[in-house]
Amino acid sequence: MDQNQLKQLVAQQAIKFVPDDCIVGVGTGSTVNFFIDELARIKGRIKGAVSSSDASTRRLKEIGIPVYDLNTVGPDELPVYIDGADEVNHHLHMIKGGGAALTREKIIAAVAQQFICIADESKYVSVLGTFPLPVEVIPMARSHVAREIVKLGGHPEWRMGVTTDNGNIILDVHGLQIAEPVKLEQQINQIVGVVTNGLFAARRADVLLLGTAAGVKELG
Ligand code: A5P
Repeated sequence: MDQNQLKQLVAQQAIKFVPDDCIVGVGTGSTVNFFIDELARIKGRIKGAVSSSDASTRRLKEIGIPVYDLNTVGPDELPVYIDGADEVNHHLHMIKGGGAALTREKIIAAVAQQFICIADESKYVSVLGTFPLPVEVIPMARSHVAREIVKLGGHPEWRMGVTTDNGNIILDVHGLQIAEPVKLEQQINQIVGVVTNGLFAARRADVLLLGTAAGVKELG
């Protein structure tokens, strides 16, 4: 099975976590795009979605799924958030933000009762950090944040030409071996000018659906 087939497989499995009549949290990325395709098949039995990016919102609207403003949706109405990851470790801590949607993803993950991560086996790692850690930054703070990240041992690189849905820039931090994801997530968040970083450790996934050649493994 190739990587796209594994992504499709986990997207299909994720549907079983979507209760009837609910509003479902929808992430961003190529794996989630397969999940949106699956949602199209069951759209009659859900109320709608909240979305973590303009790109996912467009796709959801194209297939006729109503997209709600998160401010109008309470945690009791949002049972589940489904999203991919760039890396996920054995504790279900993740690096996310390869698609630059990390801030809205983290906001929806904070509200949802359950976070289901869907990923193919290439994303499953022992130690996070081979994938450069995305950090969303207020534009005028770019150089300051970069200097502070160097003090933490990282090598930040400005993702040129990318503006987030929130009007900010992304620094991709290379060279990190992230032994303590919860601690590093907090440390980076404390730098003035950082909006969010792509470590999802304080709020990790509750369940990982991992696509492998032997089928989907449910972990967590
Ligand atoms: C989007 O900003 C990311 O957090 C995605 O969830 C992550 O990049 C996974 O994307 P793919 O499913 O395309 O690998």
